[in-house]
Amino acid sequence: MKFSTRAERIEPFYVMEVAKAAQALAREVAGTREPMIFLNIGEPDFTAPPLVVEAADRAVRSGVTQYTNALGLEALRERISGWYAERFGVDVPARRIVVTAGASAALQLACLALIDAGDEVLMPDPSYPCNRHFVSAAEGKAVLIPTTAEERFQLSAAKVEAAWGAKTRGVLLASPSNPTGTSIAPDELRRIHDVVRGKGGLTIIDEIYLGLSYDDAFGQTALALGEDVISINSFSKYFNMTGWRLGWMVVPEAMVPVVERLAQNLFICASTVSQHAALACFEPDSIAEYERRRAEFKARRDYFIPALDALGLTVPVQPDGAFYAWADCTQAAERLGVAGSWDFAYELMRRAHLAITPGRDFGTADTQRFVRFSTANSMAQLQEAVARLQRLIG
Ligand SMILES: Cc1ncc(COP(=O)(O)O)c(C=O)c1O
Repeated sequence: MKFSTRAERIEPFYVMEVAKAAQALAREVAGTREPMIFLNIGEPDFTAPPLVVEAADRAVRSGVTQYTNALGLEALRERISGWYAERFGVDVPARRIVVTAGASAALQLACLALIDAGDEVLMPDPSYPCNRHFVSAAEGKAVLIPTTAEERFQLSAAKVEAAWGAKTRGVLLASPSNPTGTSIAPDELRRIHDVVRGKGGLTIIDEIYLGLSYDDAFGQTALALGEDVISINSFSKYFNMTGWRLGWMVVPEAMVPVVERLAQNLFICASTVSQHAALACFEPDSIAEYERRRAEFKARRDYFIPALDALGLTVPVQPDGAFYAWADCTQAAERLGVAGSWDFAYELMRRAHLAITPGRDFGTADTQRFVRFSTANSMAQLQEAVARLQRLIG
């Protein structure tokens, strides 16, 4: 069978290969003294809180399950608008909010709405692998720009200016980032946006981890910079609803009808049941629960990052959000007699039954040196992971 060149261009998601190997080994070692510990998972270990589950149940039982408007339930767009006002002090009118099937659909809609064949989009290396594939699926080209720890593994205005070429259409950023958990410093973000604006380009920013920020210096939405910023967000991470497939995007007013037309044709609407359930995310009891969980994520970070550093798995930039640690495994790999993050990850899996993610998917610049640990696991599991690492490389 002949497949499209578009499909052939999409690289495999190696994370999944590692996850499959980890699951196979997990079955073998289940019930032994060292069952598998999964620190490779990119989703919260928490699930939707009670009011959200009850709202979903009510929606199903009362039969409010027909399609919604392609832009999403008006009430949900209003609640999201209210969240921006209350939490970030930013006025984001509901009419600029489009509810989507996760951030993934929002990214796809943004790329399809804005990118023409051959357009180039600048993004940091390392970054979330699917983002470059959304660009590629829209016939554009993702241009990965190597970043450093000094830059918090994010783009800088100077690098954006230097990399801008005749075909550049804009930047696709993520703050806080996956895999590093680091955000763009607000002043730098303003400078980047000024450069992009000066070139007549687009600033698209994936803020899916914004709710999971632990540092007031960083936890602000880029939407404060102006109506021309396109922000992607989701119910997956802060709201703990990964499999419910619900997210949103905030776009300039002129873009709403274009996204609406695309969404009507490509998706009809996001899941109706999930939309009704998500209304309950913004109830005071749910927010209180999310805030308790955010504190738990922060406590895990505060325990785990120093423990990794002490083991020679250096985390060069303290994550200010999300639930990841981007650690340099050079020394630790040497101690295990292997070279590179891919072999190191497999060695940890085999010898300590710890599943982690090698850097490979996230870019090409320096990713053979780095591995991603996810702290979306209980404190007890993180402590056990550290004990096993100590035995192996301590
Ligand atoms: C940076 C980033 N963007 C987007 C996504 C996709 O999220 P969603 O579940 O909302 O489609 C993820 C998921 O891990 C992510 O880490």
